[in-house]
Amino acid sequence: MTLEEKVGQLHQVPPFFFSDSLVNEVAGPLRKYKISEAQLYRVGSILGTAGPEEMRQLQTMYLEKSRLKIPLLFMADIIHGYKTIFPIPLAIAATMDVERSRLAAKIAAKEAATSGIHVTFSPMADLARDARWGRVMESSGEDPFLNYQMTYAAVKGYQGESLKDPSTLAACGKHVVAYGAAVAGKDYTQAEVSKHSLYQYYLEGYRACVDAEAELLMSSFNVVEGVPSTVSPFVLKTLIRQHLGFKGVIISDYDSLNEAQFHHVTHTGEETALKGMQATLDIEMSSGIYQNYIIPLIKKGQLSERLLDQAVLRVLQLKEKIGLLDDPFRGLNPALEATLPLSEAHYQAAYDVAKASPILLQNEGVLPLNKEDDVVFVGSLLDEQNLLGAWAWHGEAERTASLGMVLRQRYSHELIPFDTLNETHVARIQNAKKVVVVVGERSKEFGEARSKVSPTLSEEHIQLWHQVIAINPSVITLVLAGRPLVLPSKIETSKGLLYSFYLGSAMADVLADTLFGQLNPSGTLPMTLAREVGQLPLHTLSLPTGRPFEGKTYTYTSHYIEGVNSPLYPLGYGLSYTSFSLLKAKKMHENDQAILLEVTIKNTGTIPGEHPVFAYLHTPPVPVALPEKTLVGVSRISLDAGATQTFTVTLPKHHFYYYDTQYRRQSFLGPFTVTVSLIGETLDVSC
Ligand code: NOJ
Repeated sequence: MTLEEKVGQLHQVPPFFFSDSLVNEVAGPLRKYKISEAQLYRVGSILGTAGPEEMRQLQTMYLEKSRLKIPLLFMADIIHGYKTIFPIPLAIAATMDVERSRLAAKIAAKEAATSGIHVTFSPMADLARDARWGRVMESSGEDPFLNYQMTYAAVKGYQGESLKDPSTLAACGKHVVAYGAAVAGKDYTQAEVSKHSLYQYYLEGYRACVDAEAELLMSSFNVVEGVPSTVSPFVLKTLIRQHLGFKGVIISDYDSLNEAQFHHVTHTGEETALKGMQATLDIEMSSGIYQNYIIPLIKKGQLSERLLDQAVLRVLQLKEKIGLLDDPFRGLNPALEATLPLSEAHYQAAYDVAKASPILLQNEGVLPLNKEDDVVFVGSLLDEQNLLGAWAWHGEAERTASLGMVLRQRYSHELIPFDTLNETHVARIQNAKKVVVVVGERSKEFGEARSKVSPTLSEEHIQLWHQVIAINPSVITLVLAGRPLVLPSKIETSKGLLYSFYLGSAMADVLADTLFGQLNPSGTLPMTLAREVGQLPLHTLSLPTGRPFEGKTYTYTSHYIEGVNSPLYPLGYGLSYTSFSLLKAKKMHENDQAILLEVTIKNTGTIPGEHPVFAYLHTPPVPVALPEKTLVGVSRISLDAGATQTFTVTLPKHHFYYYDTQYRRQSFLGPFTVTVSLIGETLDVSC
C-alpha cells in the first residue's frame, strides 16, 4: 500500500462526499474539508448511509475506481433498532434483563445488515447520572453493575457468535471516556470526574465492551483530565488499550479530532494529527485531519510510519474479520430489507422487550383498569405517533400507532387528546370515576444535543395535571419520557403513577395492555427520580459521610436548608399489580467466577407476576471511600398467583472490586453480607 492508500483507510466520510444528492448529515466545520476525488476513492469507511440501494451504488462505484479494491466499511447509528424500533436503551435497562438487551441488539443487527451496514455505533456504555443530559436515554443509567451487564449483552447481541455471519454487526462501544459525566448535563464540553470515580464507576461500561469483544470503541467529544479524549494518550492508551486491554479499532466521534483545536489543546492540523496518531486513534470520523497531515508528518520524520501501519492493520483486520474482504456486499439484501424489518415476528420481539419496561410507581388500587370502568383519558400525548424515541433514524413514526389509536380501536372510553381543556372536557372529567392523564416528553426532547436546564414537565403539562387533579382526585398519571424527569411536587398524590420511557414500535400496545391489566408492570428505575432539579445529579451510590442528616435540627450535617436529600423514587424502585413475599435466601454455591444464591419467593397476590430481584453487596472494609452497598446481582423472577418457587441469583465475582489509591483494581475479601431485595422486602445472606 502506498502512504496515501494507508491514510485513506483511516478516513471515514459521510456518503454525500460522493454525491451532493446523498446529503445525510452535516455538522460543525466539516464543509471546509474538501478532499480530492483521488483521496475520496481511497477512504476506508462511510457513515450513515440511507439504505440498501445507496449502499450498493456506493460500494460498486468505489470498487470500480479504487486501485486496491479494499471494500468500504459502512457504519451507522443503529441504536435501538433499524426499522423495528425497540425501547430506548434506558427503557431496556428498566427491564433489568440482559436477555432483552441482547435480543433487541440481535434483531437490530439482523435488520440493519440487510441494508449493507457493517458496524453500529452502539452500545453507548457511558454511565449517566444527570437527568439534564439528553443522552441519558441512550445509556443504561446510573449504576455501574447494570451498565456493565446491559452493555455486555448488547455487544454480544449485535456481534452474535461470529462476525462472518452476515446477519451480525460489529459493535462500536462509545464514548471513551466518561462522556456521561458531562458538566451540568451539557454536551460537547468537559467531563468532570475524579480519577477514582473514573476507574471505580465510569470505566465499567467500557470494560464490558472489551470483555464482550466489541470490535470498535469511539472516543468522546469531551475533555477529560485536561485533554480532549480523542487526542488523549491517558484515555486511549493508558485506560483503554493498557488498563482494559482493548485491541480493536478506535474511531473518533464526528469531527472530534479536528475539534481538539477548538478546545485550544492542539494548535495546528499537523499537531492534531500527530496527537491523534500518538494516542492510537485509528479512524477519523468526518474531518480531514489525518487525510491532510499524516503524510507530511511522516515525510518530516515527526511521525513513525509504524504507528500508521498499526492503525491501518487494525482497520484491515476488522474488514477481514467481518468477511468484507470476501464479499463487499456482505449482508446486503434489498428483497429481505423490504420484508424483514417490521415483520410480525420482529414486532412481537419489540413488544416482548418493551412489555417488561413500564414502571409502576404508585397504585392505590386504581390499576389495572377495567373494560367497564368509567374512565376518561386526557392529554395531547395520546395522539403522539412518534413513540419511537430519539436515535431511530430508519424508524417510521407514520407506521407507528399512538396510544389514542390503540385505545380507540380496542376500547370505547372517552379520549380528550388536548392539554388545554374546555368546559365540556372539565365536566366530563369531573364526572368520571377515574382519569388517566398523560404527560411527559416527546421524542425530540431527548437525545444528542437535547440537554435541559430543567428536566421537568412542561408548564402546559404541569398546569394540566394540577387542573385535572383539582377536579377529580381519582387520577392515574401516565408519564412518557426519555429521561428521569423531575415531576411536580404533588405527583405522589396521584392514585396511580405509571412511568414509561419511550418504548419504540410497540409502545402504544404495551401501554394499553399494561393499563388494562393484560400485562403486569415489572420495570424498575434504572435512574433515580429526583424531587428537585437542584438535587441533580442524584444517584444511589453516594458515599457515607461523617455528618449524616438525621432529621435533627443540628446545622452542620449533609443536607439542604430548603430541600430534602432523599429522592422521589430510588434506583430499582417499581411495583407490581401483584405482591411477593421473600421467604428465604441463602448461599447455594461458590466457584471462582460467582457466588450463587438460592432465593425462595411466593407470589402472595391473585395474578401472575414478574419482577427483578436485586442483590446488594455490603462494602467490606477497604482503604478508599465507597458506597455502603453496591448492586452485584439482578435476576428476573416469574410466578403464578399463589405459587412459591426457589430461584438462583448469580453474583459474578468480577463485580466484587474496588480501585485503590494507586488505581489498581483489587478484589474485595470476604466474608460478605449480601442483601436480597424485592419490592420493599429484604433478606440478608452471609456469603
Ligand atoms: C455524534 C454522536 O456523539 C455519536 O454517538 C454518533 O455515533 C456519531 N455522531 C455518528 O452519528
